[in-house]
Amino acid sequence: AGQEVAQHYNQVLQSSIASRAESRAFYLRNFNNWVKSVLIGSHLRIIERQFINSDIRVLDLCSGKGGDLLKWRKGGVAKIVFVDIADVSVEQCRRRYGEMAEQQQRDGRGRLPRAEFHVADATAVRLRDLQPAWPQFHLVSCQFSLHYCFQSYQAARQFVRNACESLLPGGYFIGTLPDANEIVRRLRRKPGSEAAFGNGVYNVTFSSSAVKTQQVPLFGCKYHFSLEKQVQDCPEYLVYFPVLEQLCSEYGLRCTLRQNFAKFYRDHVTQPEWRSLLGVMQSLEPYPNADGVELKSQVEGDYRAAQAYLNGDGRCDTEEDERDRNGPVGTLSMEEWEAATLYMVFAFQRAE
Ligand SMILES: C[S@@+](CC[C@H](N)C(=O)[O-])C[C@H]1O[C@@H](n2cnc3c(N)ncnc32)[C@H](O)[C@@H]1O
Repeated sequence: AGQEVAQHYNQVLQSSIASRAESRAFYLRNFNNWVKSVLIGSHLRIIERQFINSDIRVLDLCSGKGGDLLKWRKGGVAKIVFVDIADVSVEQCRRRYGEMAEQQQRDGRGRLPRAEFHVADATAVRLRDLQPAWPQFHLVSCQFSLHYCFQSYQAARQFVRNACESLLPGGYFIGTLPDANEIVRRLRRKPGSEAAFGNGVYNVTFSSSAVKTQQVPLFGCKYHFSLEKQVQDCPEYLVYFPVLEQLCSEYGLRCTLRQNFAKFYRDHVTQPEWRSLLGVMQSLEPYPNADGVELKSQVEGDYRAAQAYLNGDGRCDTEEDERDRNGPVGTLSMEEWEAATLYMVFAFQRAE
C-alpha cells in the first residue's frame, strides 16, 4: 500500500498559480490552507509560552512538497524535519527550501529554519532509527495524511508510535484528516445500495455498500476520494477517532482538540488576526461577484447562505455585521462548504 501512495504522489504535477486560480475548488483549497495556518499558528503560540526561550523544533510528518514551509518560517521555528514516503515530493520540498534560502540571502530579512529531509514510510519504519540521534520535537504536524496510514492495525500503530515518540514531554501532535463519522453519516443517508456520495466538487466512493449496514471495520476500511472530478485519488482509509485516541493514549498522549472544520472555523473567525488572514489567503469568495468576474459555482442556490446573510436573515449582532451587509461578503459555495466540512482538526499533548 505504501508503494501505491508514493507512486501516486510522485506523479502529481505541481500546478501553476494560474491554473490553481482557475480551479473550481480554488477557495476551498485556500480555506483548507487557512485551517492549517490557524491550527499551526495557535499551537506554535502555546508551545512558545510553554517552552520559554527554546529553539522550537518541528517534525512535518507526511510533508509532501513542503506546502507548510512558509508557515514554519513565519512561525519562527528554529528547525524543521520533513518526512514523506514520496521521493519526488521530498525533492520538490528540498528545492523549495533552497529557493527560499537563496531569496533570504538576497534580501537578508527574516530567519529561515534549519531543515532536514527524509524519504521514509512512516507506517513501516521506526523514524528513531533513521539517524543515530533522532531529535525530539516540540511539535509533530501531520496534515491531510493520517487517512493513508490506517490500512492495518500494524501500519496505524507504527505511524502513531513514530509521531508520539518523536515528541518532547509537553509537546503537541496536531493534524487535519477526514472525519470518519461524517463520511459514514453522509454515506448512510444515500438510499439503497448506492456506495458513493458527493457533489460537483468532491466525491467519495466505497467499493461496497457493506459499510452502510454493517459494523465499520476499525482498520482497512477503504474508500476513494476525488476532488473536482479528476482522476480518482489513491485509496484512503477511515480513521475512527476513538481508535486514534486509544493508540495515542498508549504512548502517553491526551487529546486536547477534536473539531470538525465547521466548528473550528466558527471558533476562530471571530478573532481579528485569524479573520484578517482569511482575506490575505483569499480563503473566501467575494459575493456578489465584481463586474467581469465569474462566480466559481454555477449551481443554482449554491450561494444561498451568503444571499440570506446579505438579505439580513438571521442574527445581526455587531456594527461589523451591519457594515458587511452592504456586501460583498466572503463565502464558500455550498458545494465547497460540503467538501470542507468533511474534515476535522485534532491535537494531542504528550504528558509532561
Ligand atoms: C494529501 S498529501 C499532504 C501533504 C502535506 N502534508 C500538505 O498538507 O500539503 C499526503 C501526503 O502523505 C504522504 N504519505 C502517505 N502515506 C505515507 C506514509 N506511510 N509515510 C510517509 N508519508 C506518507 C504522501 O506521499 C503525501 O505527500
